Amino acid sequence: MSAHARPPVTAPAAKPVTVAAIRAAKSATPLVCLTAYTTPVAEALDEASDLLLVGDSLGMVVYGLPSTIPVTLDMMIAHGAAVVRGARHALVVVDLPFGAYQESPAQAFRNAARILAETGCGAVKLEGGAVMAETIAFLTQRGIPVLAHIGLQPQSVNALGGYAARGKLAAEAETILADARAVTDAGAFAVVVEGVVAPLAARITETIRVPTIGIGASAECDGQILVTDDMMGVTFGHVPKFVRKYADVGATMKAAAESYAADVRARRFPAEEHLYGMPKPKIAAG
Ligand code: KIV
Repeated sequence: MSAHARPPVTAPAAKPVTVAAIRAAKSATPLVCLTAYTTPVAEALDEASDLLLVGDSLGMVVYGLPSTIPVTLDMMIAHGAAVVRGARHALVVVDLPFGAYQESPAQAFRNAARILAETGCGAVKLEGGAVMAETIAFLTQRGIPVLAHIGLQPQSVNALGGYAARGKLAAEAETILADARAVTDAGAFAVVVEGVVAPLAARITETIRVPTIGIGASAECDGQILVTDDMMGVTFGHVPKFVRKYADVGATMKAAAESYAADVRARRFPAEEHLYGMPKPKIAAG
């Protein structure tokens, strides 16, 4: 049986996906990963997904912020707990936000422990390659599973000067490959590879022993992740080139709001079936 013939982590019984199951999905059926920020969305995505990420992309997607930089630990904990309440099957991973882990391994441990304890999620994600290896080792050796995130790192947008794809130049590609090796050796159970040229993503995937989860990377990765609002068509602003739109929920919402407005203005809503009537008077016997 070829590795690709192995059943997906999700099938057939919807038992909870563990960190060990994700780690073991190297070179197997690709991992299905999506972002979620709320309980009802987690409920809707849970069955189809192996991993739900409470990404700090919520800063832009939910709060309309210009980047992920202003996202706070309290925001991540509130949304993480909401997603855990809606997920029975998928592994829930919560992002450590900017400023909550870069100072020292001890700071990272303190904040990651809060996330785990206060949300009930299964793991945390943090951005950074070789520079974060010491921190990843510190967390994983103390019982905190870490999903690493290399390549394009949105929390470093101010330093990197934008969201352009990485790894076009040979030297940069070698640095990103070294990052992949470093976070793997430090104990990350999987690695998100974001916004890198496709041949580099494929090379990272064949080089490291834990699964790669691609976003704007390559179909050769061991899994894929997208921001749910982008692929559902809820995002009204710029949508990156690597997103495939699977629905147009934004248009459905706009149309529903227009129908509601028309019904309210024409007094077609509420109708008889939506109203509370008075109880029928009891007829006295005899
Ligand atoms: O914050 C996020 O949603 C992410 C994914 C896009 C990988 O980091």
